[in-house]
Amino acid sequence: MEKVRVGIIGLGFMGTTHFGIHQANPKAQVVAVADIDKVKLTGNISAVVGNIGTRDSDQLDFSGIKTYENALDLINSPDVDMVDICVPTFLHKKFALAAIKAGKHVFLEKPFSRNLDEVKEIAAAARASDKNFNVGMCVRAWPEYFDARTRFKAGEFGALKSANFRRLSPSVDGNSWENWFMNNQRSGSAILDLHMHDIDLVRFFFGKPRAVNAFGLRGFRSDDGIDHVLARYDFGDGTLVSAEGGWAGTKSVPFEMSFQLICEKATVRFMSEGYKIYWENGEVESPEVGDATLPTGWHQELAYFVNCILDGSKPEKYQKLDELVDSFKMYEAELAAIESGKTVTINY
Ligand SMILES: NC(=O)c1ccc[n+]([C@@H]2O[C@H](COP(=O)([O-])OP(=O)(O)OC[C@H]3O[C@@H](n4cnc5c(N)ncnc54)[C@H](O)[C@@H]3O)[C@@H](O)[C@H]2O)c1
Repeated sequence: MEKVRVGIIGLGFMGTTHFGIHQANPKAQVVAVADIDKVKLTGNISAVVGNIGTRDSDQLDFSGIKTYENALDLINSPDVDMVDICVPTFLHKKFALAAIKAGKHVFLEKPFSRNLDEVKEIAAAARASDKNFNVGMCVRAWPEYFDARTRFKAGEFGALKSANFRRLSPSVDGNSWENWFMNNQRSGSAILDLHMHDIDLVRFFFGKPRAVNAFGLRGFRSDDGIDHVLARYDFGDGTLVSAEGGWAGTKSVPFEMSFQLICEKATVRFMSEGYKIYWENGEVESPEVGDATLPTGWHQELAYFVNCILDGSKPEKYQKLDELVDSFKMYEAELAAIESGKTVTINY
């Protein structure tokens, strides 16, 4: 196989972002797209709105690409090697299970699914498949985050004292198909859609916290979901690990994603000043990370997934399935902590 033949389901913000990334990758070729919206199937994406980045045109070129109104037809097409699922979260389970069953390599956008039971069902199917499966936890692959995590794990910064991850979005009310983000049943609201990245980073960087306590702002932007959250993860070792995130801000606030690690030998920050390491001896390092052709975690994770299909390897550089299930258990414990006002032990 010289190129991976990709089929994308869902041509909203994420599906069209993935389309551009695959089309720029010489090792991938988008051969099929599916969406229930006939206008988007003509390549007209003027209705699509997103939170990071800008696009050059409202018109995508789908010449030579098969278009499907029914995504199951794309999944069952023998011309498709890899199914890239970019539909709203409440539809993840349906299409992920169908694509795994059809024997395809599956890249499933984050969050994994709407609840832990669904996650366990998809994970079991993925484990039983001989094809590759990844969830688009793109921040794990974001160059600054991946570099900091790799160097932290290698012991360069010394023992952790405190960590904080932030993800602050403007309101996304009105940005999505049928405004599904604002429907908690469909999206899980900001705690699942946005803050989940930072829950998962806590797992990725530091392992499994034993308990969580958290506070949430409910029903301010969405119908009745958690639109902003503050959480503290207890590792039982005196470290102070926390995360904050949400989409409660007005439409005009800029998107922010940032972190700070305070360790014995250095303070590591990815904030308004860029990605910097402030060493205890006074030196300040500005690491050069990433690569101009793969500037974001989306580029990195998709290029890597395609490469793994071509070389027949398991895609475990950025994620292991069990870790993603752990993150979902952390998320459900966090919801329970918000509901009860108590610290909740996480059962892995
Ligand atoms: N990794 C990230 O940084 C990131 C960012 C944004 C969204 N996402 C995730 O990507 C997924 C999609 O989000 P989005 O922002 O692109 O949403 P969106 O509302 O912009 O797009 C959803 C698309 O799915 C289509 N669709 C709906 N039902 C369908 C069906 N049954 N079959 C085929 N197509 C269908 C809609 O017509 C629409 O084009 C979500 O799971 C979201 O959480 C990830």
